[in-house]
Amino acid sequence: MIKGSLTFPGDKSISHRALMLGAFGDGESRLSNLSTGADVQSTRACLETCGISIRDEGNDVIVKGGRFSDPKEPLDCGNSGTTLRLLIGLLAGQGINATFIGDKSLSSRPMNRILDPLSQMGLKAESNNGTLPLSIHQSELTGIHYESPVASAQVKSAVLLAGLGATGKTSVTEPINSRDHTERMLKGLGAELSVDGNSSTVSRLSSPLSSFDMTIPGDPSTAAFFASAAALVPDSEITLNSILSNPTRTGFFSALEKMGAGMECLKQWDEAGERIGNLKIFHQPLQAISINEKDVPRLIDEIPILAILATQAEGTTEVRGAEELRVKECDRIYAICSNLKRMGADIEELDNGFIINGPTPLSGTKIETFNDHRIAMAFTIAGLIAEGETVLDNPECASISNPDFYNVLKSVIV
Ligand code: S3P
Repeated sequence: MIKGSLTFPGDKSISHRALMLGAFGDGESRLSNLSTGADVQSTRACLETCGISIRDEGNDVIVKGGRFSDPKEPLDCGNSGTTLRLLIGLLAGQGINATFIGDKSLSSRPMNRILDPLSQMGLKAESNNGTLPLSIHQSELTGIHYESPVASAQVKSAVLLAGLGATGKTSVTEPINSRDHTERMLKGLGAELSVDGNSSTVSRLSSPLSSFDMTIPGDPSTAAFFASAAALVPDSEITLNSILSNPTRTGFFSALEKMGAGMECLKQWDEAGERIGNLKIFHQPLQAISINEKDVPRLIDEIPILAILATQAEGTTEVRGAEELRVKECDRIYAICSNLKRMGADIEELDNGFIINGPTPLSGTKIETFNDHRIAMAFTIAGLIAEGETVLDNPECASISNPDFYNVLKSVIV
């Protein structure tokens, strides 16, 4: 069974943004509990290559606000879509000339979703048919109103960050609200930013942002794997401490509760403009659930682990409106369906999701991770309840978001 009380490294989305916005500060910003994942290291290294001074002080990271300079070498964003898309917008707004590269997965992901609005703002850029390598050239940007066809915080944030250096006002409207950390942080640090329903508007920065001290709340997307382990394994109970509970990020925990898992909110408080909570999760029989396009942005990164839960739930779970999963670190719809089929689940692949009939016993098999951290972690949790051995082709890729995943998991198995 699973027993324990855990705290987690800082939320990955907030960690990227804290490093980037610290670079706009009027002094030094101190970041505590920054995400330990390789993705956030990519953001740090790219900012350093652009002349921003960042240093470690004990467990904290100190970012010194300053001017960005043209990088002398290509900016390597590794596996990180957030690093790449947000930095393209941010550096475009600061008139920087830069070339971006990344690993095989990132190099095949679509970038026109960023280049389209930025070129409407006046950015001169070229890419390899909308993929990496991609170069941006110093350009005068003008604010636009952009109607984004996708609910994507990466698209929204790229445009808003470019807007910090564009003349006039820059606004983005999304079909469904995506995570709003960029807006919350910009507003909190003194930028002129307003939010009206699904639209956010920012003005050109006329002075540096305030520097800040921030303890980054625990990553709910990392915690979701441990919550699921406790929900799946009989007699389990786990406490998750200081977890980010921003309403644009709590979709997974709402779904888990709806599925019938035992859940108790022990405490909630606000810090640095975000809601944070301590949660207890315990095993109880699970029921099927329906997820539609309106639910998807609030649990987009948790769908792989939700699929594992659904195999143990009574009834038919449907996930629809999740076509964005096809262009994540891998094609996650295919990765979920092909691996779960091999484990013996009753799953049907849809263009924009999947249908799972449960419960079915799972059997251990060889899992293809497609080098995707969330696929690796989701199927490790599936392995806890599978009959026989589950072997991942690349377990190490979990370190993209959580290098401690396997050690922490071992520590809660009793
Ligand atoms: C993120 C936004 C989401 C999410 C990703 C992190 C962010 O991507 O999947 O892991 O920090 O802005 P999209 O905005 O492309 O959906």
